[in-house]
Amino acid sequence: MRLAAIALALWAAEAPAEGFRVLEGHGGPVHDVAVSADGTRALTGSFDNSVGLWDLETGGVTWFDGHEAAVKTVIFAGPGRAASAGDDFAIEVWDLAAGARLHRLTGHKAQIKDLAVSPDGTELASASWDGTVGLWDLATGSQTAWLTGHESGVNDVAYAGGRIFTASVDGTIRSWDRSTGTPERILARHGFGVTCLLINAAEGWLVYGATDGGTRVIDLVTGEILADLTLDRRPVLDIAANPDMTQIAVGDGEGHIMVVDTATWDIVHDFRAAKRGPIWALAYDATGETVLAGGIDDTAHFWPIGAKQGGPIIGTTERGFLKDPATMSNGERQFRRKCSICHSLADDGIRRAGPSLAGLFGRKAGSYPGYLYSDTVAQADIVWDETTIDRLFDLGPDHYIPGTKMPMQRITSPEDRADLIAFLKDNTEG
Ligand code: HEC
Repeated sequence: MRLAAIALALWAAEAPAEGFRVLEGHGGPVHDVAVSADGTRALTGSFDNSVGLWDLETGGVTWFDGHEAAVKTVIFAGPGRAASAGDDFAIEVWDLAAGARLHRLTGHKAQIKDLAVSPDGTELASASWDGTVGLWDLATGSQTAWLTGHESGVNDVAYAGGRIFTASVDGTIRSWDRSTGTPERILARHGFGVTCLLINAAEGWLVYGATDGGTRVIDLVTGEILADLTLDRRPVLDIAANPDMTQIAVGDGEGHIMVVDTATWDIVHDFRAAKRGPIWALAYDATGETVLAGGIDDTAHFWPIGAKQGGPIIGTTERGFLKDPATMSNGERQFRRKCSICHSLADDGIRRAGPSLAGLFGRKAGSYPGYLYSDTVAQADIVWDETTIDRLFDLGPDHYIPGTKMPMQRITSPEDRADLIAFLKDNTEG
C-alpha cells in the first residue's frame, strides 16, 4: 500500500466569484463527493482510480491509491474510516489517520455504484450492477449477507429505521429487513431505471431520481406519491440533502442543479452548473449553504446555493478527448480518443488512472516512478518499443499481459496502431 505524496490543493486560484472554491488535483472526472459530518473534510472519488481526502481548512489533500479502475462512490464510514468502490468490483475500507487500507472487500461481480453506512456505524452496504447488495461488517471486513431479488443492477442503497432501501435499473425501489436481509416490499415501480434515492426517516419521505428524468417524493411506508418534482431533464443522477434535511439538491445529466425546499416541495433555486456534461456528484457542506459538485472536470466545485454570479463553471475547459477530430492527425486522434483519459504524455505530475507515458520508448514495463502498477506489469519482462506497443494493442492488454489493470482494448487496424505509435514516439520524448 502506497500513500502518495501530500499535495497542496489550489484554493480558489481561478475562482470566478466568492465562495466558488475548487478541490483540484485529480487527473480524471470526479464521480462522487462526500463531506464529513463536522464539515472539516471532504472525500472525492475519480476516474483516475484514486480517492482524495481533503482538509477543508488547510486545503491539503491525502491520496488513497489501490483501486484498479474508476472510483464511483466514496463515503465516510464511522470514526476515522472511509470506504470507496467502483469499476474494479472491490470495496476499499481506509484508515484515514494511518493513510492506509484497512480492508479490501471482494465478492461483487460487476461495478459498484453506491455505498451506505448503517446508522450505528458498524455495517456497510454496497449496491452493485451484479443485481445484489452486499452487507459487510466494517470492523472485521467480513461479509454478512447478500440482498438478492432485483432483476437488474442496483444503483443506490440507504438505511432507514431498521430497514434497507434500494433503487435499481429494474425500475423499482425495494425495502429489506436489515436484521434478516429478507425482502419486504416493492415501494415504487417507476418503469424506468431508478438512479438515486435519499431518505428522511424522521419525516417519513423518500425522494428518488430516474433515468427518464422522473423526480418524485414518496411516502416511506405506503409508497404514495407526495410530490412530483420532475422537469424535462434526464437522467437524474444524484440527490443530496443539507444537514437538517430542509433542502435537497438534484443533479442531472444536462448539468443543472435544482434546489428544493422540503417543507413545501417548491423549487427555490435552479441553475446550470455545467456548460457541458452531467452533474453526477453532489454533497452539502456542514453549513448547508454550499454544495460540492462533481462532473466531467477533474476538479470538484463548491457552489454557494443561490449565488447569482458564476454561471456554468463545470465543463468549460477543453478536454483532450473532446478536441475536434478534424484538426488532428490519425495518430493523435487515436491517442486522444483511446488513451488520453488515462495517460498523460509528459512528466507533468497529473494523476491519471494509468502511468505517464513520458520517456516510454526504451522504458522497462512497470517502471514509471511513483506509479502503483499491478504485480503482473511490475514484474513483466518487457521493454516498450514499436514492436511491444504494437503487440500490446494487437493482442489486447489482457492477452499480452494477463492480469493487467489496463482495460481490455484492441486496436485491430495495423494502420491505426502504426499511426498511434508514431504519434507516441514524437510526443513522449520530452
Ligand atoms: C481506462 C484507462 C486506460 C486507457 C483508456 C488506456 N490505458 Fe494504458 N494503462 C492503464 C493502466 C491502469 C495501466 C497500468 C497497468 C497495470 O499496472 O497493470 C496502463 C499501462 C499502460 C502501458 C504500460 C506502461 C508502463 O509503464 O509499463 C502502456 C504502454 C499503455 N498503458 C499504453 C496505452 C495506450 C497507447 C492507450 C491507448 C490506446 C492506453 N494505454 C489506454 C490504463 C489505461
